Amino acid sequence: MKHLLKLSDLTDKEILEILNLADQLKYERKHNIAHRHLEGKTLGMIFQKSSTRTRVSFETGMYQLGGQALFLSNRDLQIGRGEPVQDTARVLSRYLDGIMIRTFEQKEVEDLAKYGSIPVINGLTDYCHPCQILADLMTIREYKGSFKGLKACFVGDGNNMANSLIVGCLKVGMSFALACPKGYEPCEDILQFAKNYGDKFTMTTDIMTAAKDADVLLTDVWASMGQEEEKAKREKAFAGYQINDAVMSVAHKDALVLHCLPAHREEEITEKVFEAHAKEIFEEAENRLHAQKAVMVKLMKG
Ligand code: CP
Ligand code: NVA
Repeated sequence: MKHLLKLSDLTDKEILEILNLADQLKYERKHNIAHRHLEGKTLGMIFQKSSTRTRVSFETGMYQLGGQALFLSNRDLQIGRGEPVQDTARVLSRYLDGIMIRTFEQKEVEDLAKYGSIPVINGLTDYCHPCQILADLMTIREYKGSFKGLKACFVGDGNNMANSLIVGCLKVGMSFALACPKGYEPCEDILQFAKNYGDKFTMTTDIMTAAKDADVLLTDVWASMGQEEEKAKREKAFAGYQINDAVMSVAHKDALVLHCLPAHREEEITEKVFEAHAKEIFEEAENRLHAQKAVMVKLMKG
């Protein structure tokens, strides 16, 4: 494993190794056991979109590992003025030990890895959000003990979250049911990937069918970053695609509810369900820190 560009690049074993290391780092942090695996190393963090969790968890994670992180906004970088990613990659590779990038196009992340010579970590693109899904899987295993026999259900947009969740959940052995409106399905290559898993993957427009007997329910905003202009159109298309009491009543009684955050209450999830499951939702947010520290150790320890 040289980069984390998308989850489908990782073997099932590599995903489990990251999750195991993440558990260990979480334990060590809780017990004040230092783990300065990246002493003297620097992570550059390029942000072309907003972030609370990703920025803060990578920055503090790097600090806890004995290294440092640089916040590089595209408003300040020459990349924002048109310097090609090929050149940026080759320059940054001479200063840094790793790059985390949050941007629009997946190709930009892949190009950074192609032209640079240091590990690249995808901190969200329009196509996928691998770091988030590693934290989600970590949280699911923490609460449920294992992935065996579990059913995940995602309600909403076939977006970056859905794309990555489908890959991640299927790879660790869970089954996956997606409920999304027509015209908002995940990317075609993700649907092709899911085909390899036979009836472990299902897609429907009917939320109740997807949520039936689910062990984990997940959702995300109706309009992602960069889709602000489609807000009104999307509010119409996604009306009813909400995790609420009715949806919870057909899931398992002890079902988890996860949300990558930020959440839009009374849109994709009701305030009531959100608050009833706040414990695991914020554990999920915390696990971003541990999962990403594991990724950085795997990629950057050298
Ligand atoms: N879930 C997530 O990636 O949050 P941020 O956009 O705040 O980084
Ligand atoms: N789908 C959302 C996820 C945010 C973490 C977005 O891309 O804006």
